[in-house]
Amino acid sequence: MATPHYLMTDPAHFEVCYQINPWMDPAVWRADSSACARATAGSDALRRAIETAGGKVEMIPAEAGLPDLVFPANSATVLDGRALMARFAHPERRGEEAPFLTAFHALRDRGVLREVAELPPGVVHEGAGDALWDRARGWFWGGHGQRSTLAGLKAHADFFDQEVVALELATPHFYHLDTCMRPLDGGHILYYPPAFTDQALKTLRERVAPDLLIEADQAAAEALCVNAVNLGETVIMAKAPPSLRAALDARGYRLVEVDLSPFIMSGGAAFCMSLRLDLTSQPHAALAAAE
Ligand code: ARG
Repeated sequence: MATPHYLMTDPAHFEVCYQINPWMDPAVWRADSSACARATAGSDALRRAIETAGGKVEMIPAEAGLPDLVFPANSATVLDGRALMARFAHPERRGEEAPFLTAFHALRDRGVLREVAELPPGVVHEGAGDALWDRARGWFWGGHGQRSTLAGLKAHADFFDQEVVALELATPHFYHLDTCMRPLDGGHILYYPPAFTDQALKTLRERVAPDLLIEADQAAAEALCVNAVNLGETVIMAKAPPSLRAALDARGYRLVEVDLSPFIMSGGAAFCMSLRLDLTSQPHAALAAAE
């Protein structure tokens, strides 16, 4: 099996200095004198956890004035070596588009990716956090209604030539699909029901058998644990409540927790601090065995 390959960003310039989601409060950040040091430690710990689980991690540099560059899951959607670059909804994050594009061109030049493309003009979509590739089912779950648009989902269906199952997000608190849903390699789906519209819940429950759905409770959702990295049976996430640990244990997953509290103050955690670069649309042998 090829080594799972992830992109992360150096957290040197990470901070919370604007507010574009309800998790962010610059005053709370400024009052927390150890937040910067904990951010460095948390990012290092996440990187080590991914490596220990068998992944390799590629780092891109930080840039002053672009604190949310630490969330590369929002930079692009990648499948089969092809990247579709994001376009951000908020002006605060648009400055990230150029450095991410430079980083992706470098990945293409090194042969890590074979194609880097941009969304049609004017179309807003915030990347892999709103386009979750379901490895067990072979389609994208597409979040919309908060940051990404239906036009962005359609652009994904066209570019990747894959089905995109639209799920509308109901609240600004869970503004990217990766904050409230995580398809896992064993075919399970970890999700937080109150984050979805009734129609989205209906769609989800029509497409996924009840025994494969794992409901996160409010404590797990507020700890941003659904925003997890998954390599086979290992699930890496922010500090988790015992309820979630038990639910994952019962399905045979091994939980690895990392202190990501400074990033949670920005509304992000393990999944969006990393971007998987080697996902393929081919059904995976190890997955078939796990089912
Ligand atoms: N502060 C960032 C924002 O609001 C956090 C992004 C986290 N990314 C994610 N996919 N959940 O855009």
